[in-house]
Amino acid sequence: MGTREQFQLIERGLPPETAFDRIITGITQPRTALKPFYASEKAVIYNGDYHEVLERIPENTLDMIFADPPYKLSNNGFTCHSGRRVPVNKGAWDSSKGVAEDAAFHESWIAACRRVLKPEGTLWISGTYHSIYQCGWALQKQHFHFLNDIVWFKPNGPPNLSCRCFTASHETLLWARKDKKAKHYFNYQAMKNGPFPEDKLKTQGLQMRSVWSIPPPAKEEKKTGRHPTQKPLSLLSRILLASTKPGDIILDPFNGSGTTGLACSMLGERFYIGVEIEREFCELTERRLRSVVLEDAGEEEQVYAAQ
Ligand SMILES: C[S@@+](CC[C@H](N)C(=O)[O-])C[C@H]1O[C@@H](n2cnc3c(N)ncnc32)[C@H](O)[C@@H]1O
Repeated sequence: MGTREQFQLIERGLPPETAFDRIITGITQPRTALKPFYASEKAVIYNGDYHEVLERIPENTLDMIFADPPYKLSNNGFTCHSGRRVPVNKGAWDSSKGVAEDAAFHESWIAACRRVLKPEGTLWISGTYHSIYQCGWALQKQHFHFLNDIVWFKPNGPPNLSCRCFTASHETLLWARKDKKAKHYFNYQAMKNGPFPEDKLKTQGLQMRSVWSIPPPAKEEKKTGRHPTQKPLSLLSRILLASTKPGDIILDPFNGSGTTGLACSMLGERFYIGVEIEREFCELTERRLRSVVLEDAGEEEQVYAAQ
């Protein structure tokens, strides 16, 4: 079945399970033979380049994309971690190839994401000044409509070692809609009234503002291994709660340790597609996703035992 036919089937209002299955079948059909690294009923991880996977997804089919692309900041500099001076280098995937090539990289993955997003779908991008302005310019050129830029304030970010400029203590999240005329989803009530105990800037019952105070991932979140740029679960849970609804299909083209997939699984009723080029991070993601399933099973056993 061609991608257009698949798209038409999805458009005819199939239940989300079927829509998800059809997308996955399209990616993994024998002719193209792109097998998932990990697959469960609602999550699938591919070990490969985002491009290989996205080109097999029918256009206009995904509800939300969260992308945490390489920041391209591994430049042999130093930072401070747990009171020690450590190199900032994250890996070859994070090294800059020069301003023009880095900008072309961001334009290319954003175009690939635009093709697969539904018109009412939204795209989130996280980054620092090393990458976020290039991403913002690419969004403008590709006619996305900005909804917000969020400041993710890190209350206990590391100190500045040079003492010659301000201490970096935030990242920026861009949130944009594919089509200005389409109606995107925003869970206003959950953002206003939900409890966000980790955020000292948020008052329950008042509107959620565009500055979020969220600490880095807790030790508990790294118990199955670590990724150098792992995002906190509470950050991704908030993003998913704000901008997705049950049944939605969500993509993370730079899966890393799978925080987006884990947050989908914990929130429930979301379908997840993750793409990660490094095998070791796919393995880490699998361990994290399986640990949630085990924890859920453990809880059920406890409930059962208490009855
Ligand atoms: C900033 S990290 C994402 C971290 C993730 N948000 C988390 O919470 O763990 C970016 C990831 O993109 C992966 N990556 C880099 N280039 C890629 C590509 N062309 N296709 C797919 N993944 C890629 C890197 O290996 C890295 O794990």
